[in-house]
Amino acid sequence: MLIASRGLSRRAALTGAASVVATAATLPCQLQAREPLRAADTLGSLGAAKGLLVGASFAMHETEKPYGARYRELYLREMRSLTTELELKMPTVRPSRDIIEFAPADQSFDFASKHGLPVRGHTLVWNDNVPQWIKSLSTLDAGYHMDAHIETVLERFRGRAYAWDVVNEPIAPWDRLPGNLRAGPYLAAYGEDYIARSFRLARHFDPAAKLVLNEAFTETADDLGQAFRASFLNLVRRLKDRGAPIDAIGLQCHLKSGKPYDFPRFCAFVEQLAVLDFDIHITELDVDDSAYPRDLTARDLRVAALYRDFLTAVLPIPAVKVLTFWQLADHTSWLYYSDVEKRPSAERRPRPLPFDQNFIRKPAWSAIADALRAMPPR
Ligand code: G3I
Repeated sequence: MLIASRGLSRRAALTGAASVVATAATLPCQLQAREPLRAADTLGSLGAAKGLLVGASFAMHETEKPYGARYRELYLREMRSLTTELELKMPTVRPSRDIIEFAPADQSFDFASKHGLPVRGHTLVWNDNVPQWIKSLSTLDAGYHMDAHIETVLERFRGRAYAWDVVNEPIAPWDRLPGNLRAGPYLAAYGEDYIARSFRLARHFDPAAKLVLNEAFTETADDLGQAFRASFLNLVRRLKDRGAPIDAIGLQCHLKSGKPYDFPRFCAFVEQLAVLDFDIHITELDVDDSAYPRDLTARDLRVAALYRDFLTAVLPIPAVKVLTFWQLADHTSWLYYSDVEKRPSAERRPRPLPFDQNFIRKPAWSAIADALRAMPPR
């Protein structure tokens, strides 16, 4: 079989062939001619062919929905790693002071290891997504529970994640604090040292994992993006000077229609991080299409173009080793859920991702695939 001769695993070959048939049979005819019909072509396999690890955030609760089997199959076919979207966050693991809830995270890790998929553990310390009971503690107690949380999670999952988003989103200019650091109980407890402290603890409790500092909002060519890039780069330089055990920088890359972008300028920022000897992980890529035209075809093509422009600029940077999407299918996106909450009766829903609500490839998939094919190998 042609597929087998390309050295594909039997699973990938079979599901790859099935997906091509499904795609060809259900795509509008004007797109069928464009859709790459090579069964081996998935975003994960195209990335792997260039030495890039391609993954997406994965949410266990989606596997219990009526479409759960198709959701799982999509990830097994298209992805080569999973990021825990909710299961390792403090509100899930520690909903109250006297509860430790590991079941969702156990299920995520068990699913990933059953299918041989590496896991990005997201996230250990985040001053924004803090359970209410932590907020009510003294700063001393909040600091104690930050340390205890890192130890508790890593004691249980040591060696099971290839990378940890140890600290998420340390910058928040709107809090108007020195260094534009994000306010929160852990900053109050330890000052800026909460970041290096978290990485030292993570290194101690999971010495083999890649430790990642993960940031948002660094992409746009406006005052906010510039403030984030400058503040984050200064922070990273201070952390490096102090010997914080950071292996990689995570750039979330939640792109947004209607925002200004200057990707060569963004890539210069990425290169400034790379020369500090950090790997770069694109950790949460998606496109908020809310400012694009109402017409579905036009909107999908605009989303595809933004994916193409961004990835064509960023993927040639050798330090970029990981590309992770924030979900894969439109209706499982955080943008979709928040839109349903805000506009329950609206007809038009976000279409931010490479797959639609029927798990069928969209023009964005082809744009991403083309950028992966065009990138230089690692
Ligand atoms: O599952 C419950 C549902 O049963 C309940 O009815 C509903 C009530 O609102 O809540 C649902 O849980 C929500 C969960 O998403 C699943 O949809 C939580 O309230 C909500 O807080 C949670 O939001 C997540 C958010 O992080 C906060 O953890 C988003 O899914 C997730 O995509 C988002 O991801 C963040 C990254 O961690 C960091 N970077 C930004 C990114 C997007 O905000």
